[in-house]
Amino acid sequence: MQINILTLFPEMIEQALGHSILKRAQDRGLLVIRTVNPRDFATDAHRTVDDSPYGGGPGMVMKPEPIHAALLSLDLAQPSTILMPDPTGPVFDQSWATLLAVEPCLTLVCGHYEGIDDRIRQRWNTQPVSVGDFVLTGGELAALIVIDAVGRLIPGVLGNQESLGIDSHSDGLLSAPQFTRPEVWDGLAVPEVLTTGDHSKIAKWRRAQALRLTRDHRPDLFARARLEKGDLDLLQ
Ligand code: ADE
Repeated sequence: MQINILTLFPEMIEQALGHSILKRAQDRGLLVIRTVNPRDFATDAHRTVDDSPYGGGPGMVMKPEPIHAALLSLDLAQPSTILMPDPTGPVFDQSWATLLAVEPCLTLVCGHYEGIDDRIRQRWNTQPVSVGDFVLTGGELAALIVIDAVGRLIPGVLGNQESLGIDSHSDGLLSAPQFTRPEVWDGLAVPEVLTTGDHSKIAKWRRAQALRLTRDHRPDLFARARLEKGDLDLLQ
């Protein structure tokens, strides 16, 4: 997958993606990351990328021309999905990540200040995406969240060691807590069932934990979860 990121702070993106699993994915050619700085497309002596808002108000708005020129410079061969991190967008989730993971090319346009002149959305049909009900200082951290969640779903990006199977949210429930050696640490023992090797008992215990965690931490998800026969008994 090719991912283009328009950003005034390319180092922020390159730094964050230069480690661990997504670094390995780039080294193996599964993910191609390209950053473009709209400031490089500003035409005045000061390389201006923002201006005060029409209608008044605090802060600055990102000008359309440098962003438009930066998008044109990408020479997008096929119509790329263009996302714009924006706290007013629909909230990103695992099912959205799954849809994006099959695209050949994604482009993210990171805003700063009070946002981007809305004509970029109109001209390029950008899709707003929020990463949660809070406000960040810019779009980069939100873009990184989207890239990370999508990137790990691309076939081959995760090794066996990091498999997708037991992800929280993959089946609508949060996943059960995990433990590793030692069996007793600081006076705290691993739940006994996990040490028995009885796979059916372990699966039941994990299902009960997933149900309990989802009910207690995310009643909104629990209300929508497709419960299986026996789940309510497990919860008792
Ligand atoms: N930019 C600022 N806050 C944001 C949020 N919550 N989601 C996406 N982009 C943002």
